[in-house]
Amino acid sequence: MDRSNKAAKQMDRTKHVGRVKEKMMVMEIRHMQKSFGNRKVIRDLSLNVEEGQVTAVIGPSGSGKSTLLRCAALLDPMDSGELLYLGQHAAVTNADGKVVYAHRKKMKEIRSSFGLVFQNFNLFPHYSVIRNIIDAPMTVQKKSREEAYWAGRKLLSRMGLSDREDSYPYQLSGGQQQRVSIARALALNPKILFFDEPTSALDPELTGEILEILRDLAAEHRTMVLVTHEIEFAGNVADQMVFMDDGAIVEQGSPNEILNHPKQERIKTFLNSLKRRRKGICY
Ligand SMILES: Nc1ncnc2c1ncn2[C@@H]1O[C@H](COP(=O)(O)OP(=O)(O)OP(=O)(O)O)[C@@H](O)[C@H]1O
Ligand SMILES: [Mg+2]
Repeated sequence: MDRSNKAAKQMDRTKHVGRVKEKMMVMEIRHMQKSFGNRKVIRDLSLNVEEGQVTAVIGPSGSGKSTLLRCAALLDPMDSGELLYLGQHAAVTNADGKVVYAHRKKMKEIRSSFGLVFQNFNLFPHYSVIRNIIDAPMTVQKKSREEAYWAGRKLLSRMGLSDREDSYPYQLSGGQQQRVSIARALALNPKILFFDEPTSALDPELTGEILEILRDLAAEHRTMVLVTHEIEFAGNVADQMVFMDDGAIVEQGSPNEILNHPKQERIKTFLNSLKRRRKGICY
């Protein structure tokens, strides 16, 4: 779907949602801080993600993009700040300045509201493709094997991998493994999907396949946070774009604002260096 179509659909949807209820905030990060030793990696970062919104996070290497996703996905603890999913607190900083996470049962519920896809696939190597997909729906969501299996088959078919359900990850190409990990993330029917450089381990042809899947998910109005170096792609699918540097959001806005009319010099420098790299000019 092209952007104008997408924008039109989104307007319809907003109007419709507007009649019934306000747009829901799927994730809210407030004043997040994170250090590794003495090194501050996330500095007072706040970010909201609305239902159906695709948020692209871009910025130079080492700016804290993965750390932000890891803290948001509860894989790393933050040092202070607040984190909410669907209006419920996953973490809050108390009066002593200590971060308090939700209780186990609530955490389990919150964790199952998001799906994660990483650069290096992270599939279980000793599980078949289908088991990689149906394991969490069975163990976390207590679905029956049959229900999980048929839903898993459907996802595999969507990923063009119907004939690979009994394969093991080592028998698949990188692009196929990444498609399995997207199917695995979708199997939990998450409210929000996090992608951390999902194509950076892939060659250009396989990258295209994965981007096509991401484009389809965006067109379905899946709520997604996408960390990527595929700036052009991000510009096409994202509703909001965040530029990070040195652990902080330097600028946030529409892809057009960030990519074509950035206010901050830092962003212009970054975009120019990407352009030079694409042309093969190294300084
Ligand atoms: N587990 C860790 N222990 C210590 N330092 C870390 C750890 N993880 C990340 N860092 C440091 O935090 C900073 C931010 O790293 P992060 O991986 O979040 O950057 P990034 O923006 O994702 O970079 P890239 O684009 O290269 O993936 C870097 O200086 C990194 O060295
Ligand atoms: Mg990273």
